[in-house]
Amino acid sequence: MRRLVAETRLHPADLVLPLFVKEGLTEPAPLTSMPGQVQHTEESLVDAVRAARDAGLGGVMLFGIPTVKDATGSQADAEDGILQRALRASRKVLDEVPAGTATPVLMADTCLDEFTDHGHCGVLTSTGAVDNDTTLARYASMAVAQARAGADVISPSGMMDGQVAMIRDALDDADFLDTSILAYSAKYASAYYGPFREAVDSELKGDRKTYQMDYANAREGLREADLDLAEGADIVMVKPAGSYLDVLRAVADRSDVPVAAYQVSGEYAMIEAAGANGWIDRDRAVLESVTSIKRAGADVILTYWALEIAEWIK
Ligand code: PBG
Repeated sequence: MRRLVAETRLHPADLVLPLFVKEGLTEPAPLTSMPGQVQHTEESLVDAVRAARDAGLGGVMLFGIPTVKDATGSQADAEDGILQRALRASRKVLDEVPAGTATPVLMADTCLDEFTDHGHCGVLTSTGAVDNDTTLARYASMAVAQARAGADVISPSGMMDGQVAMIRDALDDADFLDTSILAYSAKYASAYYGPFREAVDSELKGDRKTYQMDYANAREGLREADLDLAEGADIVMVKPAGSYLDVLRAVADRSDVPVAAYQVSGEYAMIEAAGANGWIDRDRAVLESVTSIKRAGADVILTYWALEIAEWIK
């Protein structure tokens, strides 16, 4: 009876698996603060993408970690940069399916923080502030490099004003008319990103409060989503997910494009830690947390448990 009348049902195609690939690694490097997750080598990344494909996931989201970080994140848009190399290899694997078979959507994180030596999502002014408009030009160049490397979806996560419009123009000018934009629209300055800093070897000192939002504000999140919709976003995202289900529901109610939510590294780490201690039933908590995100209005859910959940529900 419960199965018959369930209002919300997860499907593998709802789920997007975030993956980290690090230049120069020879063995996958386990992440202490995200048990079960790793920084991939270029080879092991391809295996993970293949697993995502075979599990029927909706997408994969790639994050690249370069050997050399600098002030402008010059590896972010380099043709042979780690992320572009990983995208090309992933494209190949995802397309190795019989004609007419669905394959996961290939998404790329479009942000500078993995690539800068100061760890901010943009380039800095001489006084150390994040320079919004100079950063937009970097994102535009990055987006075109990612599209050229085979990304289906460009995912600006840096919360610069005007980033969606700028990227749309750059993609169109370069003839990538069919490349989509997943906009991190309502992205909050959150303590729940903690473990991600380990995952991308972040050098950040300080915080991102000059460009990410205050968790006290919900209306502001709607305004950010409206702006991104007006600029041409194809999908709008709320991030983190679990503590922002109210914002997610409100964005879903007014968006006429699909809505995504990102269950972030800290949300993952908390359930893993409590589960490992025997304080909660890990598997049940995983399913409850992800189903709740869908119930709150997400069409697309980024979760580090995507593969495991797909296995459970298939
Ligand atoms: C920025 C980015 C971050 C995350 C995804 N994209 C870090 C941040 O904004 O501070 C966090 C994801 C997670 O915590 O799982 N490139």
